Amino acid sequence: MTIKQDNPRLKLFPVTAEVNNKGHLVIGGSDTIELVKEFGTPLYVFDEATLRGKCAEFKKEFGERYENTVIVYAGKAFMNRTLCLILKEEGLGLDVVSAGEMAVARSAGFPLQKAYFHGNNKSADELRHALEWGVGYIVVDNFHELDMLSAIAREKGKKQAILLRLTPGIDPHTHKFITTGTTDSKFGFPLMTAEDAITKAMTAPNLNLIGLHFHLGSQIFEVEPYEQAIGVILDLAAKMKQNKGFILKQLDIGGGVGVQYTLDAPAPSVSSYAEAVTSSVKKGCQKLKLELPQLVIEPGRAIVCQAGVALYQVGAIKDIPGVRTYVSIDGGMADNIRPAIYGSKYEAVVANKVTARDTKVVTIAGKFCESGDILIRDINLPEMTAGDIIAVPCSGAYCLAMGSNYNSSLKPAVILVNRGKTQVMRRRETFDDLIRLDMA
Ligand code: LLP
Repeated sequence: MTIKQDNPRLKLFPVTAEVNNKGHLVIGGSDTIELVKEFGTPLYVFDEATLRGKCAEFKKEFGERYENTVIVYAGKAFMNRTLCLILKEEGLGLDVVSAGEMAVARSAGFPLQKAYFHGNNKSADELRHALEWGVGYIVVDNFHELDMLSAIAREKGKKQAILLRLTPGIDPHTHKFITTGTTDSKFGFPLMTAEDAITKAMTAPNLNLIGLHFHLGSQIFEVEPYEQAIGVILDLAAKMKQNKGFILKQLDIGGGVGVQYTLDAPAPSVSSYAEAVTSSVKKGCQKLKLELPQLVIEPGRAIVCQAGVALYQVGAIKDIPGVRTYVSIDGGMADNIRPAIYGSKYEAVVANKVTARDTKVVTIAGKFCESGDILIRDINLPEMTAGDIIAVPCSGAYCLAMGSNYNSSLKPAVILVNRGKTQVMRRRETFDDLIRLDMA
């Protein structure tokens, strides 16, 4: 029999997280300890109910307030063919940032006419692929790209729908590595060149400028920066309507809504974010006498983060008396580099002892050859021994997507769980995978 258990960290796990009568963590009806026996560690587990629930939550919270909203999942957070099928079924669009992401989505049968192609340095080849594969929207980032795309669209005899990415000059108060909407950014047209960019795009015969885009950054906990940026962009759209007859058909406000990783850092709800965004668009358009545009939002992290759980096996435990206890796991910075790059914080439970009392503050260390490969510094957990399984919640976004084969490690398997059934989303790499591209 499965029981719900009041370990407070469980709320960070997928919505189906439970503890069974062995004290094991259960996700999507599967005992994680059994999953580990079958598929090995490190193992990434995605809960289908949580994934679909997040898609539904965004559709509902935005759709109820602003019917003409398109939810576009940002594939950079985690890209996988099975995931693309789920997104297709849920009716989401897809934000892609490379020909590689397009190719993965395409191979899964994802309808690329619902894709938005982003990036600050798209190559001519990538733009050609986008046109050949029928990518719906290209989000043009700079003048070089505008010229290049214009020429490629002419060469292909196509009229390509585009948006322009603008940097509204708003600071979203997040980590500086994931801030993008400030004027000093490698992304987008700064406001001082935005009018020229709009004029140029409007007059390009093979381009159809349908809207404007901004993306402020990622893991944003405040709604005010969105409200301010929407105001800035709508003001510009109104001015360009007056001066040049520009019609804003789509307003794409990017992604970035923050999620909760640790118990002490709750994130804003999707409903409060939706409320702030949709009411600013409605109020702004009313004030400026603009038609309501189609609203596009691009959540990445908020769709996949909570659905994903990383499972690791404990190996060496090193107690340095009076200093620190290192509990080493069989993964680390090759599958989750976020703590090393951004100082990101995570929680964990011992998946085979979820009901045991936390008795000891330890540091969870990865197995890679860097002192900076620390997954969690100072976390209170039950007594552990080698062979125990550590489960880290909120591992669905930007972990595997930024993963590497550092130290010639094998990338983990990824499993989808739902109502006690499992499906391999990605098999574990093998030594053959490691050497298959080396032409020795
Ligand atoms: N749209 C655009 C144009 C973006 O550049 C991004 C993320 C998103 C949407 C999705 O943002 P999200 O909703 O996932 O926050 N590696 C970092 C995050 C980098 C985000 C890059 N752009 C991390 O691990 O925190």
